[in-house]
Amino acid sequence: MSEHRYRVELDWRDGGTETLRATDDESVLDAAEREGVGLPFGCRTGACATCTGRLLSGELQHEREPRALKSDSLADGYVLLCIARPKTDCRIEVGTAVHADLVTNPWK
Ligand code: FES
Repeated sequence: MSEHRYRVELDWRDGGTETLRATDDESVLDAAEREGVGLPFGCRTGACATCTGRLLSGELQHEREPRALKSDSLADGYVLLCIARPKTDCRIEVGTAVHADLVTNPWK
């Protein structure tokens, strides 16, 4: 079993937080599941964006092309937690409200 190297803080917009220990060889989603923390997900392959989070501090690396995110969303710090691995300690905003940021609302 690998050593848990990084401290990953997950922040929900309602004020909830959880802190995980995660390695750089597992996705944030996998680390959360291992520690019993529920995060939204769908495809687990970087294609649907259901698992979108937003990096607040630290560094994550996508293990493959994050197909579900446009380049401007990536530039704004959005990440796909099913394929994002920690490279440093980090803080990430999570929850369905983050994904909702990316969805165009025709009624607005
Ligand atoms: S679960 Fe579909 S992109 Fe992460």
